[in-house]
Amino acid sequence: MPLEQGRVSVLDRGFIFGDGVYEVIPVYSRRPFRLAEHLRRLQYSLDQIKLATPHDEAAWTRLIGELIARNAGEDQYLYLQVTRGPAKRDHAFPQQVTPTVFMMSTPLAPPDPVLKASGVTAITAVDNRWLRCDIKSISLLPNVLLRQLAVEAGAMEAVLLRDGFLTEGAASNIFVVKAGALYAPPKDHLMLAGITYDVVVELARQDGMPVHIRPIAEAEVRAADELWLTSSTREVLPITALDGQAVGTGRPGPLFQRMDALYQAYKA
Ligand code: PDD
Repeated sequence: MPLEQGRVSVLDRGFIFGDGVYEVIPVYSRRPFRLAEHLRRLQYSLDQIKLATPHDEAAWTRLIGELIARNAGEDQYLYLQVTRGPAKRDHAFPQQVTPTVFMMSTPLAPPDPVLKASGVTAITAVDNRWLRCDIKSISLLPNVLLRQLAVEAGAMEAVLLRDGFLTEGAASNIFVVKAGALYAPPKDHLMLAGITYDVVVELARQDGMPVHIRPIAEAEVRAADELWLTSSTREVLPITALDGQAVGTGRPGPLFQRMDALYQAYKA
């Protein structure tokens, strides 16, 4: 149905409690990108919040195929959300409740070439979110506030630090390049296991780039030759200024150029 005709109960637990999970899936040339991985992560998020999946993998795949077919545009991005459903307001899970499933398609434009050529700016911020950032929860108020902090500082992203270590961005994962090697924090409860993160690690390894997955201290972030952010909608983007200081040369670096070429070839 047209987006503006979609209706959800005001008692929906997604609305009242943020009790739900979501996925953002890019579609290139009408093919969902890394669909199996997105559906696996959706199942993981649902399991973590003890919400029985309303559809199995085959049904999700069919619904997603239908959504893509019914929308114009070769490249789209799909937003998929499952909440626990409408019920009388009570924090504990309701007994009888039907999950609310919502999916929409939005046209997907590739990242602006200007951003790839000049890089984007970021600020650092204290990661003050909860300790289950591995769940792709719709409760995004901390992420919203952190991202707004970046916007108000004239930057595109907030690079989050917890106890002196890099976690991720407000809505992205973060990579560090130093002396020709790629570094990323390990996937744990302090960050979202990005689908783009996995693609970048795979492509780097296949290409023979040294990749180190290990905790990254704040000093290493500040001394990086290159910093990248990754997400399903923004692909891989170079961060060329952090807290007003140039990252490396202040220009997108050679490893970024290489990774972007690999990524573009991979998604084609
Ligand atoms: N966000 N970390 C956070 C906190 C995110 O919100 C996202 C993506 C990522 C990157 O994950 P992936 O590569 O699977 O997109 C990491 C999506 C795009 C969003 O909320 O719009």
